[in-house]
Formats: sequence, C-alpha cells, structure tokens
Amino acid sequence: MTDKVVLAFSGGLDTSVCVKLLEEKYDVEVITACVDVGQGEEEMEKAKTMASKIGGLKHYNIDAKEEFANEYIARGIKANAEYEGYPLSTALARPLIAKKIIEVAEKEGATAIAHGCTGKGNDQFRFEAIILSMSDLGIIAPIREMNLTRTEEKEYAESKGIELSYDKIYSIDENIWGRSIEGDLLEDPANEPPEDIYEWTKSWQEANDKPEKVSIEFEEGIPIAINGEMMPLIDIIKKANEIAGNNAIGRIDTIENRLIGIKSREIYETPGAKLLIAAHKALEELVLTTDELRFAEYMSTLYADLVYRALWQEPLREDLDQAFDKMQERVSGEVVMKLYKGSIHPLIRKSPFSLHSIEQITFEDKDTDQREVEGMIKHHGLQAANYHKLNR
Ligand code: ARG
Repeated sequence: MTDKVVLAFSGGLDTSVCVKLLEEKYDVEVITACVDVGQGEEEMEKAKTMASKIGGLKHYNIDAKEEFANEYIARGIKANAEYEGYPLSTALARPLIAKKIIEVAEKEGATAIAHGCTGKGNDQFRFEAIILSMSDLGIIAPIREMNLTRTEEKEYAESKGIELSYDKIYSIDENIWGRSIEGDLLEDPANEPPEDIYEWTKSWQEANDKPEKVSIEFEEGIPIAINGEMMPLIDIIKKANEIAGNNAIGRIDTIENRLIGIKSREIYETPGAKLLIAAHKALEELVLTTDELRFAEYMSTLYADLVYRALWQEPLREDLDQAFDKMQERVSGEVVMKLYKGSIHPLIRKSPFSLHSIEQITFEDKDTDQREVEGMIKHHGLQAANYHKLNR
C-alpha cells in the first residue's frame, strides 16, 4: 500500500508544486490541508480550488481562526511580543498550523507530514519543532530536499500544467495578525518597494487627513471592546486592522536577522497588531509598577525571541506565559489612542487598577510634607558621594 502524507497546503507556488513532487518523486499519496488562521475566505476557497485542480487524494480546510486569536495572538498581546519590531504574525501561526496538520495526519493514518518551506527560512524550523515534539510522524520537505529555486519551481509547475491561481511575483504569507511580503525585487534592500505591494495599509499621502481617535478596552491584558463595542478578540483585530490601516499604521520595512543567520529584507503590514500593542503598553504604564514594567520588557524580548526562533515548545515560553498572566491580572481599563498618518499616540488612559495618584503628583498638594524627602535624598546617593570624596 502506498504511504499517505499530509501536506500543509496554502495554494501558493511552493505547496502546489509539492503536491506533484510528492506523488512523482516520493511516490506517496497526498492529502492537502489548509489551516485558516484568518487569511480570508477568498484565500481559503482558492486553496480548495487549487487542491482539487492539482488533484491530491483529499483536501481539508480547517478553521482555526478563533483558536489563533484566543490562544496565540492573545499571548502575543499580553507579552507585547515583537521581534525587531515585527509582531510575529507568521511566527505565531506556525505552531498552530503544525498542530492542526498533525491532527489530520493522525486521523488519516498518514506516515508523514510534508511542508513547502525552503531551506533558508524560519518556518521549516517552526513546523518541524512542533511535529518532532508532538508526534512520531516523519517529515518531508521537498523544496528543501531538492534544493529548488523559485524559478525552477515555476518551470516545474508549468511542465505539470499547474496553473497558479494568481500572478503575484512575491512570496506572501497572510493571517489575521499580519501580512508578510518577500521576494523578487524586494530581496535587494537597495530597491524601493513599489506601492502596489501594500493591501492592508494606506500610504501617508493617502491616509485620512484628520486624526482619528480609537478607544480600546482591555480585561486582564486582552482587548475586549473597540470604540465602545464589545466583541470577540478576532473581530477586534479585524476592526483594528481596518482603522489603523486607513491611518497608514503598520508598514514595516526591515532588515531581519533570520534564525540561520541570513539577513533578509522583510516587508510587513501589521496595522491592527501595532495599534493593539501600543494601546496595551499605554495601559501597562498606568497599572504596573516600575519594576514590573522593567521586568516585563525583559520578558517580552525573551518571549519574542523564543517565538521567532521556533522555540514555542521551550518550557521557558510557558513559564513566561504564566508570569505574564499573573502580571496581566491588573491590566484592565480603557485607552484612547490618536492615529494620524502613520503615527500613534495615547490620549486617555483609565483603569480601576491605576497606580497613578493625582493627590500625590499635583503641585497643589499641601498634605504631603515635601520636607520629608530631604532625608531620603541624603541617603540615596551615599555610595556615589563616598566614591567621589576619595579623590577630592
Ligand atoms: N520572516 C518572517 C518570519 O520568519 C515571515 C516569514 C514568511 N513566511 C513565508 N512562508 N512567506 O516570521
């Protein structure tokens, strides 16, 4: 009996080519599975159509949108997780996609999981780390194993009569938390990115002419309402993408340091992520102590590194999640942000857990005896003063 393999499928170039390569060169039957992490109905439909055109054994469209928002993005927000300024949209989705593909593979009695990642990126590590730690399934990575270039893939697709469902020249990865655009002329940082690569964000010139205010309400670190309307996190993210995108927020053009050491020019559109993380940070400033804020920042860097570097399975990631959860118990309240042509600023912050006291800070206060602080100052710099006295 021929072995069955489940291929993580998107309907793009790499994974479409993989269906045929697996059948031809690896002599296996292919089940394709596309995991919906909010890339949109249209993309999901395209994947399904593409799968039936290329003709694997069977195709699955798996809805994981809510789970992605509630179990992955929510953690990213609590942690303010950004790697070199990138809110980890692709990186956060990979562990969930891998988990869902494993479920299909086990249900179908497959012997291995296949993916279309190249041997240069981070995604191969992210998929395989999950597969290795959560299953005993084999792994096939045809593009990497055959050392194929994108041009070779295109030629092979043509020779097999695989009609690519779109004519995009870039490699694009999309989910509800962001959109990444790579490849072709963008590979050279000396090239200016053309305006037409952007789909979620307006340019500064096209953005609204008037500033827009948006209110976000948080409960224990998670956004629960936007502009006064309570809704599930996934809908808040959609709305945030729309509002922030209209105000030219969330375009990132960076030279990213990939896991294997290569530097790569990466372009992202992550308007909602930028808005929600900025609002979350603004609220944290009001409710967390100095030391909590300092430590949260350190934890945030560690957390983002683990997620980016395919170490979602690392116990430290769970330890950090627990620490964030504890700290976030007081991160509830409302923030109003002002958005204007790519800039984003907090205007108003309110919380029942605020550690800010108007009585304490006001210049008009007579109850706090200012003279009391004198003794504190004398002792505060004592060691430094002693040091300087040595040389006087
Ligand atoms: N550089 C980003 C990351 O590693 C985006 C990767 C996009 N992946 C893709 N298959 N197009 O998270």
